[in-house]
Amino acid sequence: MRQQIAAANWKMNLTLTQGEQLLDAILKNEYSLNEHRKVVLAIPFPYLLPAVNKVKNTQGVFVAAQNCYNKKSGAFTGETSVEMLQSIGVEYVVLGHSERREYFNESNSFLAEKVNIVLENNLIPIFCCGESLTIREEGTQNEFVANQLKESLFHLSADQIKKVVIAYEPIWAIGTGKTASSQQAQDIHLHIRNTFAAAYGNEVAQDITILYGGSVKGNNAAEIFAMPDVDGGLVGGASLNADEFAIIINALK
Ligand code: PGA
Repeated sequence: MRQQIAAANWKMNLTLTQGEQLLDAILKNEYSLNEHRKVVLAIPFPYLLPAVNKVKNTQGVFVAAQNCYNKKSGAFTGETSVEMLQSIGVEYVVLGHSERREYFNESNSFLAEKVNIVLENNLIPIFCCGESLTIREEGTQNEFVANQLKESLFHLSADQIKKVVIAYEPIWAIGTGKTASSQQAQDIHLHIRNTFAAAYGNEVAQDITILYGGSVKGNNAAEIFAMPDVDGGLVGGASLNADEFAIIINALK
């Protein structure tokens, strides 16, 4: 079901105390959230359980892990399974962030396995895609992103694909302060939706939530989120400030 989502990506930031303060500050603000308009907080592993407990009674606010492993359980020292995440009440998992693709060599086929295990455990994948500056300058971003989607997602059934949240994040806009223009975001979001339409039909494609990520701030969120094929954002830096993140949440359609 297509939704509007403001997702925070804390990445590898904050101590427990700082995280608790930020979460309290986020929850203190007023938003009109419901089953179509949500906040998802992707926070570091050690704080997932306290965060789940804190947001439990707040309608429309959910906790996400920033990653998981592609195996059910076993001798994989240092990894975290989806079953573990599910057992503590986490409902979303960010997969294939460009930082994981780049620094931890996560490939499209490896991510396809992670998508499968997340869906099998009834959690929702937030699947990241997006091109580098070189690809953008070559003008081949549409083909590049379509290929990421095909190799990691197109084996899914129509019912499964509708559950996946897509986050389009051009690498050249992440943490750089250089955001895509709202028109650039709309163009590639439409392309992503058309790519799903070609594979699954238009009705399914219209149901898919596609977030934009890359230097979303309080002062540009409303313009970007207003575009017809942008269904909210995945926000890094600006999500570490409760007041600025509140502006972003309130900019959702
Ligand atoms: P940014 O990060 O908002 O700091 O650019 C976005 C992301 O990496 O998800």
